[in-house]
Amino acid sequence: MLTLGIESTCDETGCAIVKDGFEILSNRIASQIDLHNEYGGVVPELACRRHVDIMLPVIKDALKEAGCSLGDIDLIAVANGPGLVGALLIGLQAAKGLSLALGKPLIAVNHVEAHLCAALMSNENQPSFPCLGVILSGGHTALVIMHSADTFDLIAQTVDDAIGEAFDKVAKLLGLPYPGGPVIEKLALKGNRNTFTFKGGVVKGFPLSFSFSGLKTAVRYALSGQNGSTIDSPVSLEMQCDISAAFQDAAFKDVIKKTLLAAEKYGLNDIVFGGGVTNNRYLRECFAESAAGKTLYWPTFEMSLDNAAMIAGLGYRRYSRTLKGDSLDLEALTRMPFSKD
Ligand code: KG4
Ligand code: ZN
Repeated sequence: MLTLGIESTCDETGCAIVKDGFEILSNRIASQIDLHNEYGGVVPELACRRHVDIMLPVIKDALKEAGCSLGDIDLIAVANGPGLVGALLIGLQAAKGLSLALGKPLIAVNHVEAHLCAALMSNENQPSFPCLGVILSGGHTALVIMHSADTFDLIAQTVDDAIGEAFDKVAKLLGLPYPGGPVIEKLALKGNRNTFTFKGGVVKGFPLSFSFSGLKTAVRYALSGQNGSTIDSPVSLEMQCDISAAFQDAAFKDVIKKTLLAAEKYGLNDIVFGGGVTNNRYLRECFAESAAGKTLYWPTFEMSLDNAAMIAGLGYRRYSRTLKGDSLDLEALTRMPFSKD
């Protein structure tokens, strides 16, 4: 069964062809980083316009690379949220158009859930359900119980910034380009994490919940002094490296602590990871050291960032379970709860 997956939730236009939910025949992704870099973050209007311009070329490229034509496709999968509404609409309309024209079922999936599916697609061994899902992306930070590849119970999430958002904001404070995660990871390699003492936030009464806004403020103070006066610019390379190392270490220690606490509380041994922040090698090393006895399922580095193969993979799994497509009046959703059943 060939699934064509479409991704357009934020600033990446993606199309992938996936066979039987595992074999990735193509996974084309057109990044818009060049477009948004000078603004220090994603500009929604620009993102939508770029999606319009390149959606069809990306779909054509994906089909070509997979060596198939539209007539070979059995299922159209698309992320209908959460994300920027204008950006989502472009992918959703493309998917609906294909579904209607080809007479093939349309299946819409949650982009955040698809990040976890990326790890399932990246590993030959599969976790035993229920297992623990850890989402660390630019828009979301959450712990979930995965009952299957496409059914979840939310355990805890961030009460303010998502972890990737914190990386991006700290990068901005340090005078580094967007997206912040990859740059911070690189600079941290040359920094001393003990130069500063940062800590992840504690949410009173909710030991598994995340809060990263205080960590970001601590970085601001480290740069400007307790009075919050304006930051002396430019930040020295040494300071950039030390703060990157200390910030990253504090953020990851917090994630590890809460993940292991949740695993213990719910008696779950298998842990599945998803989201752009899981591209970070230091995070993976820290987890490997701290979570002895647990089985960790990471996405491949390529699949950890936004892509359409994970959308096709989750669409395939949902469709295989329910044998039911979605209707063509399906809407784009900026926010979306986790799927129950
Ligand atoms: O999952 P993703 O590609 O998009 C969303 O669904 O949000 O995540 C993007 C986020 C950005 O905030 C980016 O800074 C972060 O992932 N990121 C990283 C790394 N690569 C990307 N954070 C830390 N270390 C990295 N190597
Ligand atoms: Zn994402």
